[in-house]
Amino acid sequence: MDVVILAAGLGTRMKSNLPKVLHRIFDIPIIDYVIDTAKKINPKNIFVVLNPAIKETIEYLSKKDVQIVFQNEPRGTAHALLSALPYLKSDRLLILNGDTPLLKIDTLEKFIELFNKNSLDLAILSFYPQREHSYGRILRKPNGLVEKIIEITELSEEQKVLSESNSGIYILTMNTAALVRQIKENQNKGEFYLTDIVELSVKQGKKVEAYPLAKEDELIGINTRAELSLAIKYLRDRIVREWMEKGVTFYDPYSVWISPKVSIGQETVIYPNVFLEGSTTIGHNCTIYPGVRLKDCKIEDNVEIKDCTVAENSHIMEGSTIGPFAHLRPETIIGKNCKIGNFVEVKKSTIGDGTKASHLSYLGDAQIGRNVNIGAGTITCNYDGKKKHKTIIEDNVFIGSDTQLVAPVKINKDAYVGAGSTITKEVPEGSLAISRTPQKNIEGWTKKRREKE
Ligand code: UD1
Ligand code: CA
Repeated sequence: MDVVILAAGLGTRMKSNLPKVLHRIFDIPIIDYVIDTAKKINPKNIFVVLNPAIKETIEYLSKKDVQIVFQNEPRGTAHALLSALPYLKSDRLLILNGDTPLLKIDTLEKFIELFNKNSLDLAILSFYPQREHSYGRILRKPNGLVEKIIEITELSEEQKVLSESNSGIYILTMNTAALVRQIKENQNKGEFYLTDIVELSVKQGKKVEAYPLAKEDELIGINTRAELSLAIKYLRDRIVREWMEKGVTFYDPYSVWISPKVSIGQETVIYPNVFLEGSTTIGHNCTIYPGVRLKDCKIEDNVEIKDCTVAENSHIMEGSTIGPFAHLRPETIIGKNCKIGNFVEVKKSTIGDGTKASHLSYLGDAQIGRNVNIGAGTITCNYDGKKKHKTIIEDNVFIGSDTQLVAPVKINKDAYVGAGSTITKEVPEGSLAISRTPQKNIEGWTKKRREKE
């Protein structure tokens, strides 16, 4: 079987400078979902019909394992198929719309099976949408057989009650596909409608069926921003449902957003307003508190991520607690049983097992050992205005509160740094470094000052 994905339309209803099929559902462009589903049936070829004037789509798809075919002008879905026709070599063809991303593989397989089993010439995947919409309607004859598809603009008053709708997904024999050459320009729109192939096929005595195999949560076509948001919601509901079935607890599933590539371990509990993005993986028995956003993170078992924490491209090992209000920037590795507390920012740093930075710190380009205590307000001064420098803190070091570590600098193991110090030189093993100015007390000062007033 060959697959043709129609994606050369202008997508004007999106009111966007970005091509419609590159709009994202979570972090993945719409067209990727369609291509991924097509790949799952192992077709001979996947052709994507594109508009040669829309460079971004061409550039994006040239990196994918598909063949690009150009429709020189967007003159309708039939015209799009016509552009692909000369390249098709198999005896059967699956047509998918580039703007219909949520089709499940199980449904597609069932659809293909019905086409094959019933030796059809043309099969239409239909559905019954439950909202006001602009899909073409399936008209059946009194005996129940499909007669034609009527586009919304062509519906007569009586036909407006027709509810079975066209998903834009079809399977046909290559002989039937060739009928696309006979489709005439629609007089109202000046476009060539692929849907007219149904009536042509029926009139030629071909075997045509429409199968309502799924609901709109799989078959939604995205034409507008409202439909994009509906598609995102449908996929969110599907993904959350799957994780609940695998043993993840959600306090409010309808406020959590999980990208398709994320994975979550059993017994993990997810509070409201959580965003899990990219290829984030979360282990077993973790708790993700409200307002957390994790992108491309690896979270091991028994980790707690407290409210309003943001982490990207970070690895958090078993048993650690992060947040509330922590910020883990890319290339951060937090060891086992660590504590990264409120208003702590960590960037491109490694933190050893059992280390704590509980309050108000910036740790950037730092390599920190095990069981280190980073006092409140500690700052690694990693940037001299031109370059970034490293801070090394070895095992069992104690850094007093409000310390500045001016990098490059090294604190050797078992050392102590007194609170309020500015450390510019290496601190030897086991020693105390302190750089505060000694305190001076002037007795009776307050009284004298008041007398002057
Ligand atoms: C189309 C169907 C409609 C169906 C709906 C399902 C037609 C005439 N109508 O309507 O019956 O209910 O899909 O979602 O087919 N495209 C091209 N070249 C063009 C025009 C469109 O490649 O010249 C591509 C688009 O990029 C899109 C797909 O074909 O991916 C469908 O086109 P669109 O304009 O969205 O058709 P609908 O009005 O949604
Ligand atoms: Ca559409």
